[in-house]
Amino acid sequence: MNFHKLRLMAFDQLKLQSYYRSRAAQYDEIYLKVERQSDLSKIRDWLPPKFYEAHVLEIACGTGYWTQYIAPRASSLFAIDTAAETLSIAKGRLDIQSVIFQIGDAYDLPKMPENLNAAFAGFWFSHVPKSRIHEFLKGLSYRLKPDSRVVFLDNLYVEGSSSRITDEDSEGNTYQTRQLANGSSHKVLKNFPTELEMHDAIKGIGHTAHWTCWDYYWAFEFRTNEFVCNI
Ligand SMILES: C[S@@+](CC[C@H](N)C(=O)[O-])C[C@H]1O[C@@H](n2cnc3c(N)ncnc32)[C@H](O)[C@@H]1O
Repeated sequence: MNFHKLRLMAFDQLKLQSYYRSRAAQYDEIYLKVERQSDLSKIRDWLPPKFYEAHVLEIACGTGYWTQYIAPRASSLFAIDTAAETLSIAKGRLDIQSVIFQIGDAYDLPKMPENLNAAFAGFWFSHVPKSRIHEFLKGLSYRLKPDSRVVFLDNLYVEGSSSRITDEDSEGNTYQTRQLANGSSHKVLKNFPTELEMHDAIKGIGHTAHWTCWDYYWAFEFRTNEFVCNI
C-alpha cells in the first residue's frame, strides 16, 4: 500500500474516533428508534446466552449498551474503545467487578487477559475499511484461544431508516454524512457487508460461521481457528 493511501486511512480513523467522541452523549438515541424496538428486544434475548460463562473481549464497546446485557452472563469481560467519553458512560452504566473497561485501539490491541475465549463487537465491523478487515480479524484472533466464539452485530441498510449513503471510494467503502446535535457534519465510513462477504472475510481465521438477520440488523458468528502467524 502506498504512503498516500496509508495517510488517508490513518486520517479516516482519526475522523471516526473524533466523531464518536463528539457523539458520546447522544449515542444511545440510536437505540430509541421506534421501528427498531422489536428487533432490539429479540437481540437482547438472543445475544447474551452466547457468552454464558465465557471470558469475553468486547471491541469498540461504546457506551456499553450491549455490555450491560452480556456481562451478567459472562465470567469476565474486557472491553475496549478509543473514546474516553463513551467509556465513561459505559463505566457509569455497569458496576460489575468482572468487567474491565480500557482505552484501546481495535487495530493495535492493548495488553489484556490471556484467558479470553469469546469476542463481541457491536456496530464496529461496518466501520472497518475493506483494506483493514484482515488486519483487524488477525489481531483479534491472536488474542483469543482457539475455537473461541466471535459475534459481530451490525446494521442492514434499510431505506428510510438508515442514513443515506452519500459517497463510495475506489475500494468500495461506502460513506454516510451524519449531523450531530451541535450542528457539526461528519463523513463516516459505514459498510453494509453481505453474508457472502463475511464468510470470505474469515477465511483462514475462523470456521463454523453462521449469519442471522432481523429486519434492521445482521449478526455473524464463527469460531476461531488456532492462530497461525502467516495467515
Ligand atoms: C457505532 S459505535 C458502537 C458502540 C457499541 N459497540 C454499541 O454497539 O453500541 C462505534 C464505536 O467504535 C469506537 N471506535 C472508533 N474507532 C475505534 C478503534 N480504532 N478501536 C476501538 N474503538 C473504536 C467509537 O469510539 C465508538 O464507540
